[in-house]
Amino acid sequence: MMRNHSCGKLTQAEVGQEVLLCGWVKRNRNLGGITFLDMWDRGGTVQVIFDPNLDERLHRQAVKLRAEDVIQVGGAVRLRPKKDRNPDMATGEVEVLASELKMLADSTTPPFELVGDEDISEDLRLKYRYLDLRRPRLQRNIIFRHQVIKAIRDYMDEVGFIEIETPILTKSTPEGARDYLVPSRIYPGRFYALPQSPQMYKQLLIMAGFDRYFQIARCFRDEDSRADRQAEFTQLDIEAAFVDEEDIYLLMEGLLGYVFEECMDLKIAQPFPRLTFDEAMTKYGTDKPDLRFGMELWEATEAFAGVEADFIAKIIAEGGSFIGLTVPGGAEFSRKERDELERLAKKLGAGGLIQLKWKGGKLEGALAKFIDQGAKERLLEVSGASDGDLIVAVGGQLSKSQEVMGQIRLALGERLELVKSDDFKWLWVTDFPLFELTDGVINSSHHPFTAPREGDISLLDSDPLKVYARHYDLVLNGVELGSGSVRIHDAVVQRRIFNLLGLSDEEVEERFGFFLEAFSYGCPPHAGIAPGLDRMIAVMLGEFSIREVIPFPKTLRAASLMTSSPSSVDKTQLDELGIALKPKEEKKPEDKG
Ligand code: AMO
Repeated sequence: MMRNHSCGKLTQAEVGQEVLLCGWVKRNRNLGGITFLDMWDRGGTVQVIFDPNLDERLHRQAVKLRAEDVIQVGGAVRLRPKKDRNPDMATGEVEVLASELKMLADSTTPPFELVGDEDISEDLRLKYRYLDLRRPRLQRNIIFRHQVIKAIRDYMDEVGFIEIETPILTKSTPEGARDYLVPSRIYPGRFYALPQSPQMYKQLLIMAGFDRYFQIARCFRDEDSRADRQAEFTQLDIEAAFVDEEDIYLLMEGLLGYVFEECMDLKIAQPFPRLTFDEAMTKYGTDKPDLRFGMELWEATEAFAGVEADFIAKIIAEGGSFIGLTVPGGAEFSRKERDELERLAKKLGAGGLIQLKWKGGKLEGALAKFIDQGAKERLLEVSGASDGDLIVAVGGQLSKSQEVMGQIRLALGERLELVKSDDFKWLWVTDFPLFELTDGVINSSHHPFTAPREGDISLLDSDPLKVYARHYDLVLNGVELGSGSVRIHDAVVQRRIFNLLGLSDEEVEERFGFFLEAFSYGCPPHAGIAPGLDRMIAVMLGEFSIREVIPFPKTLRAASLMTSSPSSVDKTQLDELGIALKPKEEKKPEDKG
């Protein structure tokens, strides 16, 4: 046996026992001729003493130990003298008096300190990820991730869901991103696609009679990475038969209540509030509002009607809208702060930002002189402004103005320190439009398997953009944690949706024929959801980026700085696959991402 205890788990209960420990040297200090080692394993750190008066040869060996050397130590646990006890350390009451030492592996000097969590460049952290993972922050995050996944598995099992794996080498599953393709050697010129999600497989499992399915599922999407997006990420994928929206809400609220209680000792208020997509856009200018603070948007179009400034008259004549919000105490903002807000509005695509201070019974600001008594009264009423507040507004096309003000609201929430990372505000957003128009082309807002609202099916042909979907999003603190929907379970409706999305009957047959055929053998009504696990764990831990909760993440440009992937491959491998490369400007994965 190489060890019989974990370094970090020794307590007063072990005092007097001989223990055998293995781990890494973290610090080696010599105080008054005696060597004090901090020795660490995943369980934590313990102090080990080498006393030259007891064993000079052993002490000489210990003096040479350097940070990150791997050692085995045998010795007796003893109580530390009272004055040396350290209440900040889990093992701070005790120490190990070493009687044996064996070097298991030495370490060269690491490229950065591994004892604390000092800020260092992320590129260096990613190149030496296995060292970064040895540091306290990532140790905590990865262990926490395990606990969350375990709690999920326990709960899902308890409520009758079974975990089933689905293929990774598969066919395209449309979720709105590009596919990662894998060439086939046996069928030259043909490709597998890595799953953007297990969407079709989970529906097929429902059709196969597995009426409650879940999976901790790896998904792959070739899209631009961001703080909350990776090319490769993990979903908690869920699907159930004979359920509707309310069953999914109840299931998720139960599951999340359990996970937060188990992993964070935190009770979350249930049921979660709900907003329709239209309400969320009207009040918060986004479909994933952060409810940790108020500052709701309001419509100022009527209030501004008749204000004789040219740009206002023009926007109103063009059928545009004005959307505003009231910043409590904002009249005290400095010129610089107000300029920053304006810059943000312009960066977001607004023509400008109206800013009016309400101070001492007067409106102040560039627009104030155009605002007559009537407009002032309407504006004060709709904005609810009190003395000392700042009114900000943008004008233009309604959804664009909402979007800009939604972003400005978030920036102000941060600026006014209204958001706390240990506050958790959940929300269901419901009643999304089934389709959206991008550059004149109809796309699914979610994915093509989402059922239209029952009463709207007749609109599919006449006015598809007016059709609402049985789609719901789970939002936590302004982050879209998960999406789901009641699915189409009728092949005729499913075919119509594919056609509306621009696929010909032949294309439908080629891409989805197997799926539609399955509908004809008895497809139960079903619904599901998939929260993004990386996002959920990052929010729970108060981490800004999901890279902090993924053991081996990629850069924003989807490269691994550690393995230097993607990498080129041998010509023989390409020949076997029947692939000839077109000459193209080469980008190295080490390029900053
Ligand atoms: P959707 O595409 O909305 O739905 O994804 C569900 C959740 O997965 C997470 N997510 C991501 N996390 C990290 N990096 C990414 N690139 C990324 N993309 C998505 C988000 C998101 O809310 N099949 C449907 C679910 C369903 O209908 O049941 C789906 O995948 O947290």
